[in-house]
Amino acid sequence: MSKTVFILNGPNLNLLGKREPGIYGGKTLDEIRDDCVAAARDLQISTEFRQTNHEGVLVDWIQEAGEKAGGIIINPGAYSHTSIAIHDAIRGVKLPVAEVHLSNIHAREAFRHTSMVTPVAVGMICGFGPLGYTLALQALAPQLQAREEQ
Ligand code: DQA
Repeated sequence: MSKTVFILNGPNLNLLGKREPGIYGGKTLDEIRDDCVAAARDLQISTEFRQTNHEGVLVDWIQEAGEKAGGIIINPGAYSHTSIAIHDAIRGVKLPVAEVHLSNIHAREAFRHTSMVTPVAVGMICGFGPLGYTLALQALAPQLQAREEQ
């Protein structure tokens, strides 16, 4: 059983640092990746950190994770609120999934209050900025361990 976690990021997250810093903070996605690599090292997990602006690419990567990974952390960006394809892909792979959002989606516009991903995730972390990613790694670690012991 794999102790690799795929950390997948959706549209516009490549612009972190420049994009609406009042909402998303000043950290770049590269800096978040570095935080994840450090946190994963402490947890003895390896990570595969990726970003795409394309829905179908996220679907491909979720399917790839199904072959290669023990779990997924995903911030699907705006696709969270619309993508039945991502919902279905997650259902299909039967991996533990942690959904992350930098902002508190429930404290924002009504169209952000629903996520297609939350019902198929083990859990969702939102509103804690980049810390959410390392919290998600900590949250998934015991799930990976449990799968290894199965
Ligand atoms: C986001 C929240 C989404 O509503 C938004 O479309 C994003 C980022 C977040 O991390 O807070 O692109 O997923």
